[in-house]
Amino acid sequence: MAATTTPTEVIFRVRRFDPMADAEPHWEEFRLPYTAGMTVLDGLRRIKETASPTLAWRSSCRMGVCGSCGMFINGRPRLACNTQITELNTNLVLVAPLPNFNTVRDLVPDLMPMFDAHIALHPYVVRDDVKEQYEPTGEFFQSSHEVEQYLQFSYCIKCGCCMAACPTYATDPTYSGPMPLGQGHRYNADTRDGGFKTRKQQLAGERGPWRCHYAGECSRVCPKGVDPAKAIQLMKRELVLDYLHLLKQGCPAKPMGKPTGAKRRDGIPDAPARTIAGAPSL
Ligand code: SF4
Ligand code: SF4
Ligand code: FES
Repeated sequence: MAATTTPTEVIFRVRRFDPMADAEPHWEEFRLPYTAGMTVLDGLRRIKETASPTLAWRSSCRMGVCGSCGMFINGRPRLACNTQITELNTNLVLVAPLPNFNTVRDLVPDLMPMFDAHIALHPYVVRDDVKEQYEPTGEFFQSSHEVEQYLQFSYCIKCGCCMAACPTYATDPTYSGPMPLGQGHRYNADTRDGGFKTRKQQLAGERGPWRCHYAGECSRVCPKGVDPAKAIQLMKRELVLDYLHLLKQGCPAKPMGKPTGAKRRDGIPDAPARTIAGAPSL
């Protein structure tokens, strides 16, 4: 198919699979008129509206924020909503579900193994002082430099594109993978957090960062510029320093942030009351 940056027609070849009806996946072709600014997600919506109402995929925000629409588009994991037809430089668009995951149906991957690994790494701020965590007596100030240590990694939208690109995860599904490990580092690097000693139990074995070969594919495909490969190498460094007893606080050469005792600043409203019975009060 001739490559063009402004096609008049776009040919979608979409991988279809209905586990209730199909023994194997198969490809279906759809031809659509090109419209200015058309994204891959726009094309899929047009196909569903005009040609194949049973076509299934996940999407929500349509602006690269929710992380739902990760797909394998022309041989690379991408967000369908964030991929313009013109940037593919061809009017032939091959769309398949993300590799390295089982397929629920059509373009819907089963991301639960990724989220299970994510949960296992306690992806939230863990305080040594549980009472202070749930009933803070003041704000936890961070300097700009301290925020920069984890800010880039906090842009992750859990789309799974990095997992689909990772050659280690492709051959070893017991490996936690770049998203969960990158998010583990995001919290390890946060001066408010004291969860490294808990997370390192998960990081020591075959699921941890030592399985990473540092090929960097995860960072190359990340649509948010998160660089999980860098996070994993920094995590390896922390584990070595911890093994050598060179981490005084149990995590990244950082003093764990202390509440300052400062009162809530004017203009910051109180948190709403908890809606779940028995939840700790704020
Ligand atoms: S690190 Fe990037 S590619 Fe991986 S889940 Fe997060 S946003 Fe997606
Ligand atoms: S750098 Fe590590 S996590 Fe990233 S793709 Fe390569 S092996 Fe996978
Ligand atoms: S629809 Fe939300 S990231 Fe694409």
